[in-house]
Parts: sequence; C-alpha cells; structure tokens
Amino acid sequence: MKAQRIILDTDIGDDIDDALALAVALHSPEVELHGVTTVFKNAPRRAVLARHLLQTFGRKKIPVIAGCSKPLLQPFEPGLGSQFQMLEDDVWNESGHAVDFIVQAARVDEEPDPENLLTLVPIGPLTNIAVALAREPELIPRVRIVLMGGQWSKPAAEWNIVCDPEAAAIVFNSGAEISMVGLDVTMRCCLEAAHIETIAQKAGASAKLLSELIRLWQRDSQHAPVLHDPLALLTLFDDCVKFEDKRIEVALCGEERGRTIIVEDEPNARVAVDVDAPRAVAAFMSRVLPK
Ligand code: RIB
Ligand code: CA
Repeated sequence: MKAQRIILDTDIGDDIDDALALAVALHSPEVELHGVTTVFKNAPRRAVLARHLLQTFGRKKIPVIAGCSKPLLQPFEPGLGSQFQMLEDDVWNESGHAVDFIVQAARVDEEPDPENLLTLVPIGPLTNIAVALAREPELIPRVRIVLMGGQWSKPAAEWNIVCDPEAAAIVFNSGAEISMVGLDVTMRCCLEAAHIETIAQKAGASAKLLSELIRLWQRDSQHAPVLHDPLALLTLFDDCVKFEDKRIEVALCGEERGRTIIVEDEPNARVAVDVDAPRAVAAFMSRVLPK
C-alpha cells in the first residue's frame, strides 16, 4: 500500500509528546512525512527545534516551515519549555510560511484524489490549519485532518483547543474530513519508567537526543510522558483506537469556552471513543527509534 503523505503541524518544545510523535512519523513506513509546520507562541523557535531533531535523525531534507505564532483571538502567556535549552543556535532565518506550504502541498490546482488525500496531523493549537482552510477553501476536499485535541467525556477544555478556540471552531465547521483524538483516549496511554529506560539504553544519536529531551521535560513536569500526540499519529495505520461519528461543537463563550461538546446533529468528525492502551504503547515503542 502507498504511504500516506502527511504534514505534522506541531507546537514542539513544551510537552514532550510532539517530539515523540515526530520520531514515530520518521520510523513508520506507512507515512511519508512531507513536511513539519510549527505553530503557537513562537513558531520560528519551534521550527529550529524540529529541524534539530530531523537533522539528528538523519532526515534533514524534510522541510520545516514556521507558521502562526499568535492565536486568532485568544491571548497567550509568552515563554517556552525547557527543551529549548539544548539548542545552541536558535535563530530561524528561513522565509516561507506554514499556511502557504500546506496550501501548495494540497495541490489545489489538481483534481482531488479521494484515494490519496494529503493528511494534516495537527498536534498543537489549530491556528495554521484554520487560516489555511479559510484562505483556501479548495483545500477542504483535498485534505483529511487527524488531530490531537479536545475532550468530550469530561466537562473540561483541552489545551490545543483552549489555546485557540476560534481556530478550532473554524476547523470543525469547515466540512473537511476530521478525526479527533482527544484526552478521552490519550490520557490512558502513558509511558512508564521502564519504557523511558528502554529508550535511554538504545545506541545512537537519535536515542541520545530523545532521552535528553525527555530528561529536560521531566525535570520541570515531574511526571511520565503521556502519548497524546503519538496516539493521533498511530491511528493513521494502527487500529488501536475506536472511532464513532459525532458532531463536535467548540464552545466559544463563557465558562465553557474551549470545550469540545458532542451535540445531536449531523456528524462533522470521527471521534475517538475507546483505545486499546497496551497495544498503543507497544506500537509506539516499536516505532519511536530505528530498529
Ligand atoms: O492536551 C494535550 C496536547 O497539549 C498535546 O498536543 C500536548 O503536546 C500539548 O500541546
Ligand atoms: Ca502538542
């Protein structure tokens, strides 16, 4: 079967799971990583970190493109996580914008091929994706979106949605094919100390870098990595997650702002409702580093 062409749209550098998802994408023959786009707070610095990871993993030809740093309306606190400490040079001099890259990659001038749609995998706030869909509606029949974000089983907002609720509302109302992998399933997929030790024991520069990123992140977070973002990626080729068609509405007002609520109406997304967590963790461990 042909590899699925994907763009990973990431807020790499705060939580550790974006780097883990990128590593999985690089070691999964079922996907062809067409590019990495960055988003939120300081997209250029995130691009430097993503490129550093790609270089270390021997994949520096994969394009990295910085996108929107500012959410559409939602204010944000500046400041990035501790993983950036490992960068000696964190200046991003590249031109080009993630939104242009996404539009070009979707080949809007050509007939859509339903058998081979470009897959967008947003694992951060949805700003880049919303701006791309709003600027170029021709994208809608030419992409499918598999996103990590949201939560329907508890009355609380999830980070990627609450950081840019307007962007999330644009995406969910766009009519694009969407799969939502939310906290309802990702919170059940955690790494244990033994998994982290297995990664640390692997030889090579890639393992060394991932271990160092995990160490820096754990120094601040004090807990084990949760496989939020890798799980969204794994659903592209592994049946560890069960989906059901639902309609998701993004609350934009009051105390519910940022929540993803299921409403009784025509479905607009495939929503993750259950996960085989041991299978997902095993699939992650088998792909996070080269054999
Ligand atoms: O809520 C989990 C999401 O927020 C993940 O994408 C994680 O990386 C953080 O950005
Ligand atoms: Ca993320």
